[in-house]
Amino acid sequence: MKIAFAKPSLPNSGAMIVGVLEGKVMTATAQTLDTQAGGGISRAISASRFEGKKGQTLMILAPAGLEISRLLLVGLGKAKDVDAQAAQAFGGTALAQVQTAGDAEAVIALDILPGTTLSPPELAANVAFGARLRSYRFDKYMTKQKKEDKPSLKKLTVTTESAAEAKTAFAPLDKIVDAVFLTRDVVSEPANIIHPESLAAKAETLRDLGVEVEVLGEKQMKKLGMGSLLGVGQGSDRESKLVVMRWTNAAKKDEAPVAFVGKGVTFDSGGISIKPGAGMEEMKWDMAGAGAVIGAMAALAGRKAKVNAVGVVGLVENMPSGNAQRPGDVVISMSGQTIEVINTDAEGRLVLADALWYTQDRFKPKFMVDLATLTGAIIIALGHEYGGLMASDDKLADRLAAAGKAVGEQLWRLPLGEAYDKQIKSDIADMKNVGGREGGSITAAQFLKRFTNDVAWAHLDIAGMAWGKKDTATCPKGATAFGVRLLDRLVADFYEDKK
Ligand code: BES
Ligand code: MN
Ligand code: ZN
Repeated sequence: MKIAFAKPSLPNSGAMIVGVLEGKVMTATAQTLDTQAGGGISRAISASRFEGKKGQTLMILAPAGLEISRLLLVGLGKAKDVDAQAAQAFGGTALAQVQTAGDAEAVIALDILPGTTLSPPELAANVAFGARLRSYRFDKYMTKQKKEDKPSLKKLTVTTESAAEAKTAFAPLDKIVDAVFLTRDVVSEPANIIHPESLAAKAETLRDLGVEVEVLGEKQMKKLGMGSLLGVGQGSDRESKLVVMRWTNAAKKDEAPVAFVGKGVTFDSGGISIKPGAGMEEMKWDMAGAGAVIGAMAALAGRKAKVNAVGVVGLVENMPSGNAQRPGDVVISMSGQTIEVINTDAEGRLVLADALWYTQDRFKPKFMVDLATLTGAIIIALGHEYGGLMASDDKLADRLAAAGKAVGEQLWRLPLGEAYDKQIKSDIADMKNVGGREGGSITAAQFLKRFTNDVAWAHLDIAGMAWGKKDTATCPKGATAFGVRLLDRLVADFYEDKK
């Protein structure tokens, strides 16, 4: 779908979309159309229960007196509440209604909204951003999709008096969508297609954006002493990989980078501590943390962020086999610390242990943020509304929470502390990889903390957020790419050189 910005004009074909404020308050364009339609629009509104509340829609087909095929009214809510996220939701809601409706072209007509804090170009750019985010489809394996289920829309034009400024404001957002789609693609792919090697190859495509990418195989990781990560992958026929991505674009090329670390378990069967069969197919997206880190690096490079950033993802497949790791095994991590593997299904932390240690050891970053679909317990605690945030550094935690709020990827902080740390004491090694059911997300984080070497660190447990079971305004059900926009915003608001 192509997106364009243009000065206001009334189309004589295709779909048209206009906003209506709460209380059935028509925007200027809606009033113009209503006049041309001989009052037909206001009659349609009166005949319906559409009030202009946020998210409400009313489709009017072939309105008399107008040449367009359909007019879609979309509720904006109250003008004072129209912020960037509301504008994105407006665009996404509109797109969802017209994407497969039959028209090849649609126009979203925007008016100056009295009382909003968004400037007209920001409004237009965010409406387009939301529309594009919602337009995502993962239907490559649907060979029998009916014509009426396929997108008809080829071009979406957002009209505004400030079309040129809107286009400029949209340019970086467009790059962020590209990155979000990359992440949604790799997270959606089944595990026979995305495995450590093919996911590493996907990360290598970031070279086209100017990112330096290195891929380490098992031989190199063995040399580095990554016994913790390698233990997880040893039952798989697929070779484990560690991918290092570097985007170096701060004014000072030698300035310490920000670092993002991702859990990339391309399939989590549980290993010998095998998971129950029901729902196991979901564990294809146990690499969503790695997917988000790859996407965040793509977003930063795509919009040429003025920052030095490092992304490190540990890619493994957790499988049972004659060569698989057993419960009770003791592994030696790169840090030298030993781990008793009580449960082979608590594998994400074993992967991150070596990835985190490697990252701080090699790059001496300003801070590290890891993203992982780490525990089912975080879903019990927070459901599918907030990602879990655990951190050794308050400033970093606050900044992450603020960035998440700004992009609608919300985080809720959980505590850490010595008492929790005691839960992972082992009788045979420096620690064990599970701490019992109580506070399961926190003990997992305590485990990770032992591999941060006191570098400022935050852990995002995204198990409840990586996959959506329902459509939202800006994301169809399926892979969400949670974390991509959040990390991009963290950098933009707090760590980027000012232009
Ligand atoms: N990948 C899972 C966590 C998960 C569960 C992600 C559900 C998404 C949805 C993780 O590797 C895991 O299996 N965690 C175990 C840990 C336990 C064995 C201590 C869990 O949460 O049950
Ligand atoms: Mn697991
Ligand atoms: Zn897992």
